[in-house]
Amino acid sequence: MADLPVDLVDLLIFNASIIDGTGTARFKGAVAILADKIVGVFDEHQQESACALKAQMAHSKLVFDAKGMVLSPGFIDAHTHDDRLLLSDPQMMPKLSQGVTTVIAGNCGISLAPMPKAFEKAVTPPLNLLDESGDWFRFKDFASYVQALRDQPSAINCALLVGHTTLRVAVMEDLNREANEAEISAMREQVSEALNAGAIGVSTGLYYEPAKAASTQEVIEICRPLKASKGVYCTHMRDEAGGLLASLDESFLVGREVDAPVIISHLKVVGVKNYGQSSRALDHIQAHQGSQEICFDCYPYPASSTILSFDRALTASRVIVTWSKAMPEMAGKDLSAIAQKLELNEEETIQRLDPAGAIYFRMDESDVQTILSHPQVMIGSDGLPHDEFPHPRLWGSFTKVLGHYSRTLGLFPLESAIRKMTSTTAKNFRLSGRGEIRVGYYADLTLFDPEQVDAVSSYERPVAASRGILGVWVNGEMVYQDGRATGRFSGHVLGHQDHTNKFTSAF
Ligand code: ZN
Ligand code: CU
Repeated sequence: MADLPVDLVDLLIFNASIIDGTGTARFKGAVAILADKIVGVFDEHQQESACALKAQMAHSKLVFDAKGMVLSPGFIDAHTHDDRLLLSDPQMMPKLSQGVTTVIAGNCGISLAPMPKAFEKAVTPPLNLLDESGDWFRFKDFASYVQALRDQPSAINCALLVGHTTLRVAVMEDLNREANEAEISAMREQVSEALNAGAIGVSTGLYYEPAKAASTQEVIEICRPLKASKGVYCTHMRDEAGGLLASLDESFLVGREVDAPVIISHLKVVGVKNYGQSSRALDHIQAHQGSQEICFDCYPYPASSTILSFDRALTASRVIVTWSKAMPEMAGKDLSAIAQKLELNEEETIQRLDPAGAIYFRMDESDVQTILSHPQVMIGSDGLPHDEFPHPRLWGSFTKVLGHYSRTLGLFPLESAIRKMTSTTAKNFRLSGRGEIRVGYYADLTLFDPEQVDAVSSYERPVAASRGILGVWVNGEMVYQDGRATGRFSGHVLGHQDHTNKFTSAF
């Protein structure tokens, strides 16, 4: 290997234990970065010559000794509700502090854009998970939302979905019925506009009230533009309890009809009666993968979180209130304790708290582990960044997988854990040039201590930066170091086509 010309490198991270994201075993070596790309990956022997470069750069801050640390691709959060956070708090600390360098926003049918009309009354749930006031639903079309993100970049990258529930709320007067032809074509036009503006797909939340009345055919018709733009179809399915398999079938049908890859959001099994069904669900997915593209993400907790409702509370063994507009002081308290205090039954208590959000314990830990252990799973946080007392997954999903599940429980090797949050996700969402440490790829990187890394957030103390994340780079810029954001905002809005592999090798 030739010596590295010093003017061709901005940064050299050496002595690292490199886990490249593909699942292959770690190796000791160095990674060289020029501008926003990885331009060299060196094993231990090649690192020797790379260290000639190090000598030349010795007095510069641009050499990073990563002894004892793991360097991996930056993590990609497959499932977020960060649409507004990207603008309202572009530092993105809940994600940055876990080593996440890209988020997929607009999930569960809920996207911030487009919203061509103003909310006259309260924001329709579950859209209020993004913003209770309605002020942030200010983007009349998807293009103006994308433009706002470009005008004010965040610390990390994002890729965006347009939400079916948002479209329904924007277009339909009566949400309790199927869309008529005119409404379908209006929504389909908005989908085309969004995809042209840079959205990578459509999401649905057929489970939620404003989308429940939509037929499968309605979803198919509005998703038609996915085919031409090679977009993905992501879904929070109609039923994650007793009707799980039927809901999988409905999702597969949409994918086949519109010729788009299907992404099953937060695959889980809800309700005591259905515990243990995770293997059946995974088998069902596998049985259909021969004829179409299907993948799934998972958050590493046995409790879900969304808006507060009596139906959901009924199926949960414990409910924690995450926010309440009527009684903000109740955030963080158990529903049963609030009911006791107010001397009301749970249904009445929920009416008093409404609108509100909650955490519901209604999954089996062994189902969670079965899904997490699957070789194809992607890690998504599903964090709700605007909740007063959020589910701990917002600040801890990725580090919990690395620490608790991989290192402590030994559920899978660290190399597999990293793959679930990097290359698998980049491939499934068609984010080219991301998710691997490879020459020509973008320099989205995370450096962590493999002995220390873990989530710190908990149900009792949900807002807490993770342990062991030492450095994060986004598009070649260091955005996080030793527990602090560096104040750089180098995130991009990612599309499918924004990567041209100009470098095969710089040397
Ligand atoms: Zn969801
Ligand atoms: Cu979600």
